[in-house]
Amino acid sequence: MRVIGRMLLVRPRVVIAISLLLLAVVAGIAGAALPKPDPAPDTPPPERQHFDRELAQAYVDSGCWRCHSVSTLEREMTAAFGAPAAGARPLGPDLAGIGGLYSNGWHLAHLWRPQDVVAHSQMPEQQPSFNAIIAMQIKTIVPNRLLLRFLQSLDVPGRERATWPRGEHKLPRPGSIVAGQKLFAEFCAGCHGPEARGDGPAAKWFKQAGDKPPADIGGAKMVWRTLRAPLPSLDDIYSTITNGLPGSGMPSFARTLSDAQRSDLVAYIAELNRVTYEGYADAFEHGPIEVTPPQVTADLIARGHVLFNDGEKYACATCHGADGGGNGPLAAETTKRLGFPPRDLVRDRLRRGTFEGVYATLSLGLGIGMAGYLEADGRNSADLWALAAYVRSLNKWESRMGNRE
Ligand code: HEC
Ligand code: HEC
Ligand code: HEC
Repeated sequence: MRVIGRMLLVRPRVVIAISLLLLAVVAGIAGAALPKPDPAPDTPPPERQHFDRELAQAYVDSGCWRCHSVSTLEREMTAAFGAPAAGARPLGPDLAGIGGLYSNGWHLAHLWRPQDVVAHSQMPEQQPSFNAIIAMQIKTIVPNRLLLRFLQSLDVPGRERATWPRGEHKLPRPGSIVAGQKLFAEFCAGCHGPEARGDGPAAKWFKQAGDKPPADIGGAKMVWRTLRAPLPSLDDIYSTITNGLPGSGMPSFARTLSDAQRSDLVAYIAELNRVTYEGYADAFEHGPIEVTPPQVTADLIARGHVLFNDGEKYACATCHGADGGGNGPLAAETTKRLGFPPRDLVRDRLRRGTFEGVYATLSLGLGIGMAGYLEADGRNSADLWALAAYVRSLNKWESRMGNRE
């Protein structure tokens, strides 16, 4: 049986290899006759996942390979630690491409108690991967930094990682508050807390890691908007739940929950904030800010670069740093005030990364984290499009996607 199994495994490979060879020969003949197409400027060369033995060792020592694979490092893991380390029986998802998708806070909370973070997770608690230091009644739990760094370094997607949706979505139908409340307890409360005040059992790990904690969504403190109002519209909330906010701890629920279930959650969140929604009915009536993206050109990006460092009007560099890396002169003070730093616009994923999305972020700001820059009469909108184009051109993840939507 085993031999036959092996033959079956080997044979298609041989067939594929021969076909590839034939194809290469045919392509070579055809290629000689045809002019070579210009390499598309938008498609970067396929990247190889960087392998760091020390970081990988932390993953192997923690036994994660018992359930996970890292398809982009299969060869390196096998060579360094033997075949099983590459993921012999993948019970959990392939971890290739997980880097930067979630904050460190998310990973700590997930390793500590996966079920707080992912409803009905089958992953067992990984508490041995933390070191508990118990001294004089003070119990400090120290995460395995090397393991975290390993996970965050896996920035080249494998075959299996589906990308999260992006862009604005319309609430497809009015939802049910009662159904939404039930879903919230099941899928959201582990992070956002039973009353949606941002204080679920996972929240402490976000604070410990210095990451933005789960939002207080029951206390009129939501920030991801497309309109001038103190709260997002129902479409905005629906978009956030559908798309997630990559690079934070807020996952996409596009695949976990149906359109109808996400609508029910919106109804529940709206009900929690009913007083604010009623109080600002006019603003919501008014609808989203106008969004007419210009053509992205090298000139537009260059103009954005100048404005980014313009000390008078925009002064983005004071917080985000002259190169956008998040280390401007006001960064430390901002971090102290908020409990989390200004974004590293180069290495962090943009949580709302489309051109229109970054424009909305810059126009309307992010609550107490960052002011909105769109003037009341909208006269500086051209500046903000230039800044949005520049920010996206800086960002590693957006550039890798060729700054596509
Ligand atoms: C007994 C099997 C098992 C072990 C051991 C295990 N995991 Fe998991 N892991 C899973 C399963 C099942 C899931 C899917 C459910 C979830 O996301 O919690 C998962 C999910 C994950 C995810 C989320 C992946 C994604 O695409 O969202 C990460 C990250 C992860 N595990 C890291 C680890 C690390 C690091 C270790 C070692 C310290 C580890 N796991 C050990 C079973 C396991
Ligand atoms: C693993 C933890 C986690 C889970 C589970 C989770 N969230 Fe979140 N959520 C976050 C974090 C962290 C943020 C803040 C992200 C940011 O602004 O950077 C957030 C932000 C949000 C926001 C945006 C608020 C704003 O400022 O505009 C909404 C809406 C939201 N979550 C709804 C939900 C709903 C509904 C569910 C369940 C279906 C859910 N979340 C599940 C961690 C989580
Ligand atoms: C006072 C400090 C400060 C200044 C000045 C500032 N920012 Fe920010 N910025 C922040 C903080 C803090 C956050 C994160 C807020 C949050 O997550 O709630 C942020 C977030 C962002 C984001 C969101 C990225 C994402 O995840 O989608 C973008 C884009 C951005 N800033 C660009 C700019 C640009 C462009 C300027 C200048 C026009 C600017 N910022 C000025 C502090 C600042």
